[in-house]
Amino acid sequence: MALSGAITINLHAERRVTTLKEGWEFTKGRPESTTSWQKVRVPHDWAIYGPFDRANDLQTVAVEQNGETEKTEKTGRTGGLPFIGQGTYRTVFEVPDTVSRNITLLFDGAMSNARVKVNGREVAYWPYGYNSFFADVTDVVIPGKNHMIVELENFERASRWYPGAGLYRNVHVVNTDKVHIPTWGTYVTTPYVSSEKASVKLDIEIAGTGKGEKLDVATEILAPNGEVVATNNAPYIAHGQNHSQNFLIAQPELWSPETPRLYIARTKIKKNGKIVDCYDTRFGIRKLDYIPQQGFFLNGKLTKFKGVCNHHDLGPLGAAVNKSALRHQVELMKDMGVNAIRTSHNMPAPELVELCDELGIMLMVEPFDDWGFRPKSPNGYGAFFKEWATKDMTNMIKHYRNNPSVVMWSIGNEVPSQWGPDGVAELSMLQDMVKRLDATRPVTCGMDQIGSVLDNGFAASLDIPGFNYKPQYYNKAFDALPQKMILGSETASTVSSRGVYHFPVSFEKEHNTVLHPDHQSSSYDNETCDWSNTPDIDFYMDEQPWVLGQFVWTGFDYLGEPSPYDTDAWPSHSSVFGIVDLASLPKDRYYLYRSIWNTNNPTLHILPHWNWEGREGLITPIFVYTSYPKAELFINGKSQGLREKNDSTLQTRYRLMWNETRYEPGEIKVVAYDAAGNKTAEKVLRTAGKPHHLVLTPNRKCLVADGEDLVYITVQVADKDGNIIPTDNRLVNFAVSGTGTFEATANGDPTSLMSFQSPKMNLFSGAATAIVRSTNKEGEIKFTATAKGVKPATLSLSVKQQQ
Ligand code: GAL
Repeated sequence: MALSGAITINLHAERRVTTLKEGWEFTKGRPESTTSWQKVRVPHDWAIYGPFDRANDLQTVAVEQNGETEKTEKTGRTGGLPFIGQGTYRTVFEVPDTVSRNITLLFDGAMSNARVKVNGREVAYWPYGYNSFFADVTDVVIPGKNHMIVELENFERASRWYPGAGLYRNVHVVNTDKVHIPTWGTYVTTPYVSSEKASVKLDIEIAGTGKGEKLDVATEILAPNGEVVATNNAPYIAHGQNHSQNFLIAQPELWSPETPRLYIARTKIKKNGKIVDCYDTRFGIRKLDYIPQQGFFLNGKLTKFKGVCNHHDLGPLGAAVNKSALRHQVELMKDMGVNAIRTSHNMPAPELVELCDELGIMLMVEPFDDWGFRPKSPNGYGAFFKEWATKDMTNMIKHYRNNPSVVMWSIGNEVPSQWGPDGVAELSMLQDMVKRLDATRPVTCGMDQIGSVLDNGFAASLDIPGFNYKPQYYNKAFDALPQKMILGSETASTVSSRGVYHFPVSFEKEHNTVLHPDHQSSSYDNETCDWSNTPDIDFYMDEQPWVLGQFVWTGFDYLGEPSPYDTDAWPSHSSVFGIVDLASLPKDRYYLYRSIWNTNNPTLHILPHWNWEGREGLITPIFVYTSYPKAELFINGKSQGLREKNDSTLQTRYRLMWNETRYEPGEIKVVAYDAAGNKTAEKVLRTAGKPHHLVLTPNRKCLVADGEDLVYITVQVADKDGNIIPTDNRLVNFAVSGTGTFEATANGDPTSLMSFQSPKMNLFSGAATAIVRSTNKEGEIKFTATAKGVKPATLSLSVKQQQ
């Protein structure tokens, strides 16, 4: 068996953290003597390789929260991928020396029902696949090679979406002195914050001490530029208690989405004059005030949550976490103007939380989709809730309570407990638990049964009432509730497929649920599910001071939940709720949100595309999503009139619409004006001609030689003049050489059953994405795309060591 190819971070000699990435072996099921193991790299998702099949986790259910009363076959509900069943991983890790050492195994997440064995002894069992957990293996390890086996098992009907499968998050070996700060053993708070000064309090757990033992504990606070700005040095007499240190920081650099400044508390523990542990706690200094009637204030500044809900899967990469993929997601969201993410409906990967700290995104961290009462997924977390909720909440809160990006905890999503009065007992148990572990952030819960929760005391019991949908009832809820503030914990659920437009276009119905024969939803952004709405009413409600803002369902499409094509509608198997599709390509809706949320950069976006052979002379409405208040539209030079945002309908308040325009090939041009009537910008869209060549657009040109960095390459077809053809869906083949490997591909079509891992993909609405991974070597990646009938395209990317 291979030895784990480990990445060791020797920040300080006293503490070694080794991340076990290479050197794992995997088999489906449980191994037998004849098993041939597959070599894999962790993070690994065993199910994303497919194949897709209607029979995978086929669920015959009535989805009560969608108002269904009869059971029907829900196809593709969990993505149609083969994640059900058992999987086993094994590896060997090295422990140089065990004398006076403490060894902990830390799992960022294992999907699911993990049993970990080291040298034949079970050291951990953790059912919930989304949570991080650890095991002290000091008594089990031996100097030299140690054998680890991780057994996992996913049940059917345990999820409402694709959960992934396997060791899909990182595994670490933490090797410390016997006297050490244990896992998640510090807690930083900032009891006083102003622009002049801040007080910082650091609570430190210290393990492995003898009763009455005397240690020296010295902490330095490092400012964002690395300078030491405060210190605290004091002896600690061990009696099992925590050690608390306080610091004064003058002129602190405050953390915010615009200024994500991070400090480090570096704690050194000395025993008999010798350093035995050195532990870094990264944190931020910021002030959170949730003020009744007035809203949320960050560092004293009124701040609306311009948020999205995201699932954990990374489209074609599945659930296998990759920081570079997450960074791409966060950067796309930031450009849209997003300042917050809800980790719906489970604990995030630590990489996401770190990125949100670094890039400036506020997080609502949420653990559960089910509590104990009448769980939505019969074989899911509900069965574990009673025994495990405390342990799961403790790990989640201790893990993330030092991260400045986390600004609120959610305790659940649309739990059926909300229907009845007993729900308040479950709610209070969880909310109280949060307060014991972290009283610095408020607690919310996503509630969809607005009538019940106003009547039965559930909504009134939360720090912040979070409503999923029904913005038309926010006023009623505001009047009825004691908190005097409302959060749109989940909003919109507008459905659209990138680049697909259905005619005629109408906004008349409150819930415009339409099922089209092509299983695609219209990118005119006028379609929803029975319970959901188009974005406009949420924008409108956000204008109320007591609405703290919203978290849109969802930033990205995800595997599973293909509503409204969810009932006997195979091959639909991924969502169409996303503002960005499964291939990480923005839909038109991206620009609607951007036009309102990104207040630093102007938006001027035209839809639909202008290649409508066969629609000549037919009404083909043109919408413009723009930050400018008005614009004039021209078709082949002929004015179609000036439109100005106005209050006659909710739609015209947020977008410019020409509802009667008729298609004729050629050029459409939009000229935008500011409020004073000055011409400020213009944009042109042309009917593309015959397919001529492929076009490749990478999201970056230089990768890090760490074996994990990714580049996302958009693949399209253009005519001879370079106009992109939005309707070309030909098959494109990919080849990668040099210091990179082909990783995955996707086209964002929720009905596509093509493999994500074969280096070929049909374009969908004229585009697909190819993802290439760097190797550990510096050099150059050559990427080539070829397709029948058009000229190929190549791209060179450089790969360098991290600076
Ligand atoms: C909500 C639920 C989400 C998702 C969404 C689809 O009710 O919280 O998980 O199912 O509906 O609109």
